[in-house]
Amino acid sequence: MLYDIPPSIRNRMRYLERLDGRHRRENVRQFDRLRQVPPATGRFLAVLAAGAPEGRYLEIGTSGGYSTLWLALACREGKRRITTFEIADEKIKLARQTFRSAGIEDIVDLVEGDARKHLKAYKGVSFCFLDAEKRHYLTCYNLVVPLLCRKT
Ligand SMILES: C[S@@+](CC[C@H](N)C(=O)[O-])C[C@H]1O[C@@H](n2cnc3c(N)ncnc32)[C@H](O)[C@@H]1O
Repeated sequence: MLYDIPPSIRNRMRYLERLDGRHRRENVRQFDRLRQVPPATGRFLAVLAAGAPEGRYLEIGTSGGYSTLWLALACREGKRRITTFEIADEKIKLARQTFRSAGIEDIVDLVEGDARKHLKAYKGVSFCFLDAEKRHYLTCYNLVVPLLCRKT
C-alpha cells in the first residue's frame, strides 16, 4: 500500500506538500492555510485505517485533501470508500481538484458544509479522522461515537 503509491496520487501529495510549505513560510493567515498533516502522520493514518474493521470511513476537515489522499490508499487496499467533510469554499475547490487529479473520485465523497449538521445521517462507521477546529472536537466526538460499528 505504501510502496506502490500510484503516480497520480504521489504527484498530488508533492504538490500539496509544496503549497503547505509555502503557506507556512509566508505566514499565510490561519484560515487560508492548508494546515495539513505532515507526511509521516499521513503514512501512520493510512496504516491505522487499513486495520479498521469493515465499515464506513469518515474524515472531518478535508482542507486540500492531503490526508484524504493517504486514507484513500487504505480504501483502495480494502475496497472501501471515505466520506470527508469540509466547510470552507476555497478548500472545497482545492480538494475537488485533488481528488480529480489523483484519480480517486470513485472512492471519495466530499460533503460540503459543517460536519456537525451532517454526521447524524451516517452509520456503520469503522474509522474517523477528526481534524477540524479544536473548538468543534467535543461536539464532533459526541456525534461520531454513536455511529461507530463494533468489531466482529
Ligand atoms: C487542520 S485542517 C484539515 C487538514 C487535513 N485533514 C489534512 O491533513 O490535509 C482543518 C479543516 O477543517 C475545516 N473545518 C473546520 N471546522 C469544520 C466543520 N465543522 N465541518 C467541516 N469542516 C470543518 C477547515 O475549514 C479546515 O480546512
